[in-house]
Amino acid sequence: MSLPSDRRSFLKATFAGGLCGLAKPAASWAAAPAGPTDWLKTARAEIPALRDTGYFQTGAFGPSPQRVMDRTQALLELQNRCPAHPEIIGQLKEAETACRRLLAETVGAKTTEVAMTANTTAGLNTVLWSIDWKAGDEIIIGDQEHPALLLPVYNLQRRFGVVMKTSPVGRYEEVVSEVLKRITSRTRLVAMSHVARGSGSVVPAAALSMALRERGVPLLLDGAQGPGNVAVDFHAIGCDYYSLCGHKWLLGPKSTGALLIREDVLAATPVSWTGSGAQSSMDEEGHSEWQPDARRYEFSTRFLAGMGGWHTSLEWFAQLGWPRVRERMAQLSADANEQILRQPGLELVSPTDAALRNGIVVLRVPPGHKGSDLYDRLRTNDRILVSPVSQPRDLRICLHFFNSEAEIDRLLAKLRVYCS
Ligand SMILES: Cc1ncc(COP(=O)(O)O)c(C=O)c1O
Repeated sequence: MSLPSDRRSFLKATFAGGLCGLAKPAASWAAAPAGPTDWLKTARAEIPALRDTGYFQTGAFGPSPQRVMDRTQALLELQNRCPAHPEIIGQLKEAETACRRLLAETVGAKTTEVAMTANTTAGLNTVLWSIDWKAGDEIIIGDQEHPALLLPVYNLQRRFGVVMKTSPVGRYEEVVSEVLKRITSRTRLVAMSHVARGSGSVVPAAALSMALRERGVPLLLDGAQGPGNVAVDFHAIGCDYYSLCGHKWLLGPKSTGALLIREDVLAATPVSWTGSGAQSSMDEEGHSEWQPDARRYEFSTRFLAGMGGWHTSLEWFAQLGWPRVRERMAQLSADANEQILRQPGLELVSPTDAALRNGIVVLRVPPGHKGSDLYDRLRTNDRILVSPVSQPRDLRICLHFFNSEAEIDRLLAKLRVYCS
């Protein structure tokens, strides 16, 4: 595959800086000294991607700590010692079971409500294709959706004549009323991002779930930018379906995800794509029974080593302590907001209210500048990775707990120069 030359030079510069010769993984958290910020230093040192890049792209791909790669690789090596050996298959399945259990605990779901997937998009499709769509049926989606939701919905329009309605998600206090205005007797599903990737807007997930439940309309949340960025408690939210991934804010291996399905909607959510493993029993005369739980949406050969790696990242977060991680993220986001608001010419697009702020900080640069140009300049000149989004003057900065104040200062100083 050929890379554009700027991308090639960025990669070359990045790898020349020492990424290839990965330094030894840092000491484990358990062995870290107990000073107030030492935990951060130790955690940061475990993430190779941070060594020579200002990394503000967790909303695209989370940079995994070394231990996640090590665990995934160890499982791949174990697997390939004898991939079909029942004992080895058993060990890989155990890694998946442990991941499912810890994920369920992390996001407030039951283990039986978790279907492991390869990404958020897979879970969205599982739900979208579970409905027996008729021409004229309606789906309501948010007005800031990712292609992961848009494309499957366009497909439903083309394939079945489904009517797509969009509802604004930019004003938190109006999200529920806007959705309710669009509901008719033909509405079969509401689907939207929990956190919008291009603006950081958050939807009032619990209030929306409750309002829709009262009207008998199921809710599917796209949680790609959810867990690890904002606190997620599936049962407290109360939605029917929540699709998420391991490879962004949870720092897991790329191609890990899960669909959470509320126990009481399982029977009303028919399986669409399926295959070996989805059944609890079958014969060759046309009889089969599904797995009794969300495993019925899983099938065939899957990335079990990656799920083992994801388990390690979830365990790492638990050891670091979610409250501490969240507190750090809230602080970073508040500080960045304050700095951006002080900088003449820059505006904030993402929520400024403390209760709604999250790791996605989106700023609008002055007229005459483009987010995509700034993205290129920061990447090629300064080894800083941010992200352009669909609004041409907007730039997304993803702040995870591991980002440092110095990195943020440097990024904003560069922007000051480039936007002057
Ligand atoms: C809101 C949203 N949904 C879905 C996706 C796609 O995620 P995945 O690669 O896990 O399918 C993204 C990726 O950026 C996203 O931001």
